[in-house]
Amino acid sequence: MKILFAASEVAPFVKTGGLADVAGSLPAALAAHGHDVRVILPLYSNINESWRDQMTFVKHFHFPLSWRNSYCGLFQLKLGNVLYYFVDNEYYFKRHSLYGHFDDGERFAYFSRAVIEVPDQVSWSPNIIHCNDWQTGLVPVYLLEAKHRFPCLSKTKSVFTIHNIEYQGRYDKTILGDVFGLDSSYFREDMLAYYGDVNLTKGAIYASDYVTTVSPTYAKELQYSFYAHGLEGVIAANYYKMSGILNGLDIQQYNPNLDPDLTATYSSDDLAGKAICKNALQKECGLELLPDVPIIACISRLVSHKGYDLITAAFPKIMEHNVQFVILGTGDWGIEAFFRSAAKRYPERVSANLLYSTKLSAKIYAGADILLMPSISEPCGLTQMIAMRYGTVPVVRLTGGLKDSVPSYNPATGKGLGFTFGNITAGDMLSAVDRALELYDTEPLKWRQLMRNEMEVDLSWDKSALAYEEIYCKLSHNDLDPD
Ligand code: GLC
Repeated sequence: MKILFAASEVAPFVKTGGLADVAGSLPAALAAHGHDVRVILPLYSNINESWRDQMTFVKHFHFPLSWRNSYCGLFQLKLGNVLYYFVDNEYYFKRHSLYGHFDDGERFAYFSRAVIEVPDQVSWSPNIIHCNDWQTGLVPVYLLEAKHRFPCLSKTKSVFTIHNIEYQGRYDKTILGDVFGLDSSYFREDMLAYYGDVNLTKGAIYASDYVTTVSPTYAKELQYSFYAHGLEGVIAANYYKMSGILNGLDIQQYNPNLDPDLTATYSSDDLAGKAICKNALQKECGLELLPDVPIIACISRLVSHKGYDLITAAFPKIMEHNVQFVILGTGDWGIEAFFRSAAKRYPERVSANLLYSTKLSAKIYAGADILLMPSISEPCGLTQMIAMRYGTVPVVRLTGGLKDSVPSYNPATGKGLGFTFGNITAGDMLSAVDRALELYDTEPLKWRQLMRNEMEVDLSWDKSALAYEEIYCKLSHNDLDPD
């Protein structure tokens, strides 16, 4: 099958969040199953020279976007079995950051239109165009008309994946004709219209042939207003063509037995290296070098939907235990200030690393004992999976992908992988932390077994890539169906 995967960020080229990890690893997993998979993304100015040097120029062309005649330079690069297309237009993508510009609507409408134009330009007929989040939300909308214009797209089906429904791409309706080049027939309730504005996520959900999200539980949660940020009705109306598929992890990249950033490597058969990593982390973070004191870690953006209100409320109680606490991330200044002052108050017990560093994150995943992730909502979440891969026990709230990837641990049977809680209260979170610490302190053998179980669980893309394949197959075979 031929699959074009469109995303606004793709690891290892450019990354601000989990979307890039998925766009970097799912296509490779699909290609490994023998499909012709191509990924398309903007050629941002912050994509490194070292990648640019490996790209080859394919061609350039122009296409109309409303009254504009837009330039599109196309570059390509093959990595493993996947071919990557980079869309070059310096007017739109020579910026200091990926998002947050006054003309993001126009920039990503341009990119979405380029996604539609490229197959014809390279004489390639994809069975599926798989789009991700609002930045590519116009692709399925443009495809409705482009199917009739380009023979190579006449049978192409679209899949739209919601990675986080909080970001929807909502704009004043004047953008519809002037920027998107769409006539007023697209401004209707079962397309882009949303309380008088246009909403790209809504349009994508209606226009695409199938919708997925990144965990089965998040798919269910999206039917409730608490999680759907105003799109619960849209989700309900389109639920017949929607499902949740849990993200996988690039298990080659995240492997404590191979990770070059670790002081010592280790595996589930031999955990000795993890103790060395713990000691190295304590040294690096200026914590007391105490091998038996559990380290609780938080690695995420410091924003309230990651559950930081619970953590800050429960923090004094957590510190009553004999524990150390390491935090890594940047975000809201209030949360940063809290941890800055906590680190001053407990200099040898709390380490606040208010920065973004993949090297330090690897060291924390390996050196910590417990990962605390009490997200209010979490479509899938990558952090808990990486922690498990590194033998670090997650304490999570039962939401979205956390619920689907971290079955609750039962000390009586030894089954389960983490300590969990449901209600959004500091007290419930604290009791999950307490249960984890109790097992750590009183049952070292069970704890070690739990660490091994974490490391041995299958977090790869194998199962999930098959689920996507099944959807692609069903969609493309509908056309062959004589009915
Ligand atoms: C978004 C979600 C996160 C998910 C990622 C990849 O960043 O917030 O939960 O893991 O997308 O799908």
